[in-house]
Amino acid sequence: MITHRVSNQEQGQALAAELFVAASNQSPQHPVGLATGNTMSGVYQQLVASEFKPRFAHAFALDEYHGISPTSKNSYLNELKDKFAGPLSWQGELHAPGQGKYATESGNSDFESGLRELGPVSVQLLGIGVNGHIAFNEPGSDFESRTRKVALQEETMRSNAIYFDDPATVPTHANTQGLATIRQAEMLLLLVFGEHKKQALLKSLQSPDQTTPLAALIDHKNLVLVTDLVI
Ligand code: GLP
Repeated sequence: MITHRVSNQEQGQALAAELFVAASNQSPQHPVGLATGNTMSGVYQQLVASEFKPRFAHAFALDEYHGISPTSKNSYLNELKDKFAGPLSWQGELHAPGQGKYATESGNSDFESGLRELGPVSVQLLGIGVNGHIAFNEPGSDFESRTRKVALQEETMRSNAIYFDDPATVPTHANTQGLATIRQAEMLLLLVFGEHKKQALLKSLQSPDQTTPLAALIDHKNLVLVTDLVI
């Protein structure tokens, strides 16, 4: 793992945007892997500010709430259209588990097949949840897991409730790439900012086990951590 220590989140997001551009331009024939949430919003803003012109034709989202309308403001697919595809005027295809052609019984295995056909992902953006989740792979997830429907843990629903107008409507399930799916990317770009994420990161690095999903990715040949935390 390569670690870039930055002084604050904004500096980290700018560095991440640079690394993302370089890695995706190196293999423009391959798709990229996108993530959502606060951490990533600043990265997308930096890409827009730098007038990045994506050369890839496909992007795969890490996860999506199960059963959510693709036009809901809380849909991750919608968020990626809103913060990434739209502002960059990117016309490529955005794949999200459980959405569009993947909203079928065989959707999650079709999503895996899509990734196999078009992959490997050149660079996968990754954040981490306060409880250590990666995408929606909650603590205890199988390190060999693939794209599937999962139940969200209480803590995840609580921390994500801030994004919902009515916290009672936070979905209880999601479709998420598995840890083995994520591991297939050529480069993993992990962004961790803020003291509230410190415990999750430290636990994953110092006592990796089944309860720390990041442990499944730690031996990846090209894992790059950008953080403002002293670890
Ligand atoms: C969500 C996503 C994760 C993301 C996490 C952290 O639960 N499923 O992929 O890493 O939130 O988000 P934030 O950057 O807003 O802290």
